Amino acid sequence: MKGQVSLRGKDILGLRTFSTEEIRRVLDTAKEMKAIVGRDIKKVPTLRGKSVVNLFFEPSTRTRTSFELAGKYLGADVVNITTSSSSVVKGESLRDTLLTVEAMGVDVIVMRHAAEGAAVYASKIAKPVIINAGDGAHEHPSQGLLDMFTIEERKGSLEGLKVAIIGDILHSRVARSDIWGLTKMGATVHVAGPKTLIPPGIEEMGAVVHERIEDALDEADVVNVLRIQLERQKKGLFPSPREYARIFGINRARLSLAKEDAVLLHPGPMNRGLEISPEVAYDTQSAIQEQVKNGLAVRMALLFLVLTGGKHVEDNH
Ligand code: NCD
Repeated sequence: MKGQVSLRGKDILGLRTFSTEEIRRVLDTAKEMKAIVGRDIKKVPTLRGKSVVNLFFEPSTRTRTSFELAGKYLGADVVNITTSSSSVVKGESLRDTLLTVEAMGVDVIVMRHAAEGAAVYASKIAKPVIINAGDGAHEHPSQGLLDMFTIEERKGSLEGLKVAIIGDILHSRVARSDIWGLTKMGATVHVAGPKTLIPPGIEEMGAVVHERIEDALDEADVVNVLRIQLERQKKGLFPSPREYARIFGINRARLSLAKEDAVLLHPGPMNRGLEISPEVAYDTQSAIQEQVKNGLAVRMALLFLVLTGGKHVEDNH
């Protein structure tokens, strides 16, 4: 459509390099996509003849499945490559894997990797569009976009909201993408967690850092609880799980410090009883299941926009 920014051919590497117009375009397109997800027959032919490879070097349930179904609902062919089943176990380099996938005529590579900067590297090596599905603790743009979509859906707008992000900020690519995206869209992001898990420099990204979790939660419109990334902890950074749950765990009492109608988010997978208590995870304030549904719509929007530039959703010519 005229006057709208185009994402055709754009590598989706992180929200730091997204403009507000680009974020708006994705969120608006995802609304149309959500209507398709709600249908009985979901498949549309929009991306027929296009191919997507999910290249995942780290475990994933929701992000990988979400990109896979997103591509399939839009009619694309989607193939999954995971580390354990690929030639990476035979010692193949990332560069060679990318070039092999490229040689098969793939249009989009959705990539998750443990190293920060892996997606940027891939975008320099390979011709297909690269979508970063998480690179180490750096960025996870589709998660940031689905968080924004979910908040906007519940609250009507992102402008002026207080969003509290609680927990393991240090290891979280979700926190980084959320901070870049939400601050661009006019929200204020407040973070709190154990001192050892708050990275230096997070203020320069635009977040307000609190020593006391109560101050971050106070009158918040949104509470986003992060998973304690047990697999990434270095010795000594993390108190015992029991102590963490006692001081930082989000339970009903802590959630009540936020606004009465505050929305509760968690990117999943949850450590129930550690960073979040089951009593709040499944309560009405929780939008955690909605996040999963919206993630699908947002990923459909991303694939659609990078591959077509945004022609009519069901136009199959
Ligand atoms: C997140 C991730 O992988 O960064 N999960 C996800 O994509 N849904 C968060 C996490 O693993 O804690």
